Amino acid sequence: MAHAAVYLETFGCQMNVLDSQLVRGQLTALGYRFTDNWQAADVVLYNTCSVREHAEQKVWSRLGEISHLRKKNPGDGSSLPGVVGVIGCMAEREGRHLLHKFPVIDLLCGPGELDKLPLLIDNAMKTSSRGQVALAGNTHRRSTTRQAAEDQLELLDLSRSFDPDGIASQSAYVRITRGCNKFCTYCVVPFTRGREIHRHPDSIVDECRKLVEAGVREITLLGQTVNHYHYDLASAVTVHGIAQPQVGAIVKDHDGHATASTVTFAELLTRIHDDIPQLARLRFVTSFPRDFGDDILTVMRDRPRICRYLHLPVQSGSNRMLQAMNRGYSIEEYNDLLSRVRSILPGAELATDIICGFPGETEDDHRATAELLRRGRFKNAFIFKYSPRPGTAAADRLPDDVPTDVKKRRNNELLDIQSAISAQVHAAYVGRTVDVFIEQVSVKAARQAQVTLGWEKPQDQQVTQLSGRTDTDLIVCFEGPTELVGQIVPVRIDRAAPLTLFGSLVNEPVSA
Ligand code: 5AD
Ligand code: SF4
Repeated sequence: MAHAAVYLETFGCQMNVLDSQLVRGQLTALGYRFTDNWQAADVVLYNTCSVREHAEQKVWSRLGEISHLRKKNPGDGSSLPGVVGVIGCMAEREGRHLLHKFPVIDLLCGPGELDKLPLLIDNAMKTSSRGQVALAGNTHRRSTTRQAAEDQLELLDLSRSFDPDGIASQSAYVRITRGCNKFCTYCVVPFTRGREIHRHPDSIVDECRKLVEAGVREITLLGQTVNHYHYDLASAVTVHGIAQPQVGAIVKDHDGHATASTVTFAELLTRIHDDIPQLARLRFVTSFPRDFGDDILTVMRDRPRICRYLHLPVQSGSNRMLQAMNRGYSIEEYNDLLSRVRSILPGAELATDIICGFPGETEDDHRATAELLRRGRFKNAFIFKYSPRPGTAAADRLPDDVPTDVKKRRNNELLDIQSAISAQVHAAYVGRTVDVFIEQVSVKAARQAQVTLGWEKPQDQQVTQLSGRTDTDLIVCFEGPTELVGQIVPVRIDRAAPLTLFGSLVNEPVSA
């Protein structure tokens, strides 16, 4: 149906944000338009996340709401969305089961099958038949059908760069790696997004260049284990003129180095940085702590437009827990990485993720995590209570034996420790002038500034608060004209809160 209105809501990680942007671009090109009001939409889509149960609960409540409305207005349902679709990781994880749980759902589409979404929507609208499904199935099935699936998904990633109108802001995500091979015992990602697949470096550089030509100033490279990116040019395959993404482990010579034909993550960063001088900022998430070589740190040190920020999830400070989580590194190796970062990239800021209350976690394990936070001096840490995910090794084999109140207490203790450290890290910026990439006009920031810092502004005075980030990924709020959004400007930091800096514009923008 041409001009049908679509409501698309996104839950979860940056990978989902990118998937939603691509879905939006794909549907817009086909004549669909988008609305912010789900009750006025013809098609309602939830792009879902399965990483923690909490993320899934939000979607259940949305589906409950729509089911309730449908029951209240059985008739022809003309005031209700014609098509309700669940896309992303929950669709893949739950599969057809979800259709039985919520009969209101018309279609399911896994994150690896999003290229098929327009067809599913079209079928559902034309035939009013429920149960349109595109899922990758389990990883075994995926490996046999992989080649065919990749073709199309690569096209979906590439599609946006051919459509500059679809670029919403000066900041863009570019996927370099899909899926994950790590199988951390608590994590659903390898099951929902499948095995690790790397895109051809030429496709990535081309996409970055086109985005920059269309006005993008900051690019964030995405991968579940982004630093594990590699591509063996010697075995590159092209189908219908499109270089295929590649599956498989890095090819190493007898000294354990990548072979000459392999493009490593450090080399990819170098190429993007050096080949696209108009790109103001290059960032990447998420890094996996194992195999994080000095080659990457050195490239970051020598290339000023690569941001001095690393997201290095550690998950626990205890070797016993790291082993039970199948993380593949020891806390000593993680500490060694922190030391290398601090010595090669002084001034860089780090963030981490922690899971507390993993099965078998003792007070000693918990203390080790607290100690790691104190030593790590992260700018922030995302601290989660362990939530068993069906189908993962931990949920299947390890009893969820840390009581909820203990998980809560440990979570709060870690949050308190981190919040004091975050405050210190931020306070160290007061008095300094930093370059800020301005992302948006921020009403919330204005309110926060008033509440947190007791700033008194006359009610009638119209002040625009802008918010953006330093190249070390700290959030900065300051007053300035709206036209600066998308630019990089110097800001003097006047005050600091635990997760935000407040400052004032120093002079004219440093770069146009
Ligand atoms: N329970 C709690 N936290 C989890 N994460 C991933 N899976 C789980 C789980 N089952 C957290 C990890 C990961 C982040 C994205 O989510 O810390 O780094
Ligand atoms: Fe999940 Fe571990 Fe892969 Fe991260 S590295 S996506 S936590 S399996």
